[in-house]
Amino acid sequence: MRLHGKTALITGAARGIGLAFARAYLAEGAEVAIADINLEAAKKAAEGLGPKAHAIALDVTRQDSIDAAFAEAVQKMGKLDILINNAALFSAAPIAEITRADYDKLFAVNVAGTLFCLQAAARHMIPRGTGTIINMASQAGRRGEGLVAVYCATKAAVISLTQSAGLGLIQHGINVNAIAPGVVDGEHWDGVDAFFAKYEGKPLGQKKREVGSAVPFGRMGSADDLTGMAIFLATDEAKYIVAQCFGVDGGNWMA
Ligand SMILES: NC(=O)c1ccc[n+]([C@@H]2O[C@H](COP(=O)([O-])OP(=O)(O)OC[C@H]3O[C@@H](n4cnc5c(N)ncnc54)[C@H](O)[C@@H]3O)[C@@H](O)[C@H]2O)c1
Repeated sequence: MRLHGKTALITGAARGIGLAFARAYLAEGAEVAIADINLEAAKKAAEGLGPKAHAIALDVTRQDSIDAAFAEAVQKMGKLDILINNAALFSAAPIAEITRADYDKLFAVNVAGTLFCLQAAARHMIPRGTGTIINMASQAGRRGEGLVAVYCATKAAVISLTQSAGLGLIQHGINVNAIAPGVVDGEHWDGVDAFFAKYEGKPLGQKKREVGSAVPFGRMGSADDLTGMAIFLATDEAKYIVAQCFGVDGGNWMA
């Protein structure tokens, strides 16, 4: 029960890694707002998780939605101790085929969404003088990829925002850090696999097998492989950790 008495809002938590974080936090005694643009999926996810799980509608690209979701979370849980900025979109295209619409969409969710959810949480946490903010970066933010320029750039921006917000908020007792997963199996990577099938002419599923066998650990990650770091960063043992980005990737990438 390492998070007993704590409350958390997790963006994009209706499925995948965010949902695994919600389950893990609840198991550690926290109360959790499962905030997602897909409210129906968030409600379904929250249903089996008991009275300490709340489904909340949130579109991280809209300021009115951010304001309403954070107000609802505080109203339902009484306070906000932890934010996990987890919602994100992925896309891939050769450099010559990147569209401005796709660029705008990814930066709106992955970068502006992260910054303005972080800001909403900080405004609540600053007067309390305590808080934890965890941003979901990626190994993709630590290096380029020929077909994944926009997503990589958004995740590099998430690492940079983590550094600046980490430095700007620690004076208020708020720890901001990031997690950089490698390749994590799930619906997100089904989509990634489909992009590579299209652009590299591979049968569906082949890219997944390739990236999985290339991980030094020997397989793709699962969402549950990431929960230990997400729990640890929200505990008091992590209080002296400021503005860092931690790879949890089976040895895939060295920072
Ligand atoms: N899966 C991987 O291999 C991997 C690797 C590195 C980093 N990550 C990062 O981890 C995080 C979670 O990844 P995942 O695999 O669980 O992704 P996912 O696609 O399975 O889940 C993303 C969730 O975000 C929600 N969402 C999308 N747009 C939103 C918006 N505008 N407002 C609110 N919610 C929105 C979706 O409805 C979905 O529930 C992301 O930040 C992702 O970039 C994932």
